[in-house]
Amino acid sequence: MAIPALLRERLSLPVICAPMFILSNPDLVIAQCLGGLVGSFPALNARPLGVLEEWIVHIKTALAQAREADPGRRIGPFAVNQIVHKSNDRLAHDMEVCVRHQVPLIITSLSAPQDIVPAVHAYGGLVFHDVISVRHAEKALEAGVDGLILVCAGAGGHAGTLNPFALVGEVRRFYDGPIVLSGAIGNGRAILAAQAMGADLAYMGTRFIATQEAGASQAYKDCLVASRAADVVYTPYFTGVPGNYLKASILAAGLDPEHLPERGKDSMNMGSSSAKAWKDIWGAGQGVGGIDDIPATAELIAQIQREYAQARAALVDATKLF
Ligand SMILES: Cc1cc2nc3c(=O)[nH]c(=O)nc-3n(C[C@H](O)[C@H](O)[C@H](O)COP(=O)(O)O)c2cc1C
Repeated sequence: MAIPALLRERLSLPVICAPMFILSNPDLVIAQCLGGLVGSFPALNARPLGVLEEWIVHIKTALAQAREADPGRRIGPFAVNQIVHKSNDRLAHDMEVCVRHQVPLIITSLSAPQDIVPAVHAYGGLVFHDVISVRHAEKALEAGVDGLILVCAGAGGHAGTLNPFALVGEVRRFYDGPIVLSGAIGNGRAILAAQAMGADLAYMGTRFIATQEAGASQAYKDCLVASRAADVVYTPYFTGVPGNYLKASILAAGLDPEHLPERGKDSMNMGSSSAKAWKDIWGAGQGVGGIDDIPATAELIAQIQREYAQARAALVDATKLF
């Protein structure tokens, strides 16, 4: 088990809030960090590209002010997500801004981040990489990343297909560094389960869409409350990479979720047409069935902290039997 000091000393729960295309904005990130979690956003959410620096400065300033007002408070560091793929023509610019502002944690997705790791290590930052398989995990470690995010079956957005017990178990056989588990983790009990399984931290995405701060429409948030796991469809149709989406949004777009045509990986696109797709087609993981409300992020985090404490106490009782 290994949680880097940067995170261990500042978090109120072992949680990284996942970056979400279109939806993660500075208000959400600041509220997540002030709650003692890692808050994050995809660099591509800051559009046009000059806005990235404004967002980073805004987030840094808000967190520094809160830290100054209450030096003892646990305030999580923030992270920026970079899509390492040929369709992302902003990558060099966005990384230059992140390096200049010394963003504490860079979360990379898709290709292994060979060029990014040395630039971030040079200022003392960390790089965690998203993977869905052992092969991708090995490549990321060869690139020198500081932690692996294992995106398992049922995660929102671009998800893997492996069972979390299987992937965590296999990766732990050769890696004792930080492992973050992603996929349908939506409450305190699930965070504790991720730790019991061998992960160091939980990665939470979908649960934070149903908050006051997230940049989703009211209809999207209401649909999360109304949906269950059976209402989530796994398909590569919208971006070229398989992902999980709410069935109701696919139907509303005039498509038949049960009969979407096949699409190859080469058609992957994170550009403006993809932004349109993600606005109308709502990403969500299988944990959606646990969402009953749309609270402020601070309230949600307080609730998750209570759930975690209760689950831990119950687990201590349960394990006394054996
Ligand atoms: C609507 C949506 C958009 C997402 N966009 C991104 C993204 O831009 N970059 C990324 O690395 N992951 C993205 N993800 C995946 C999350 O980072 C994370 O792996 C996932 O949400 C975790 O599973 P959960 O939603 O079941 O908690 C997205 C997820 C959702 C639901």
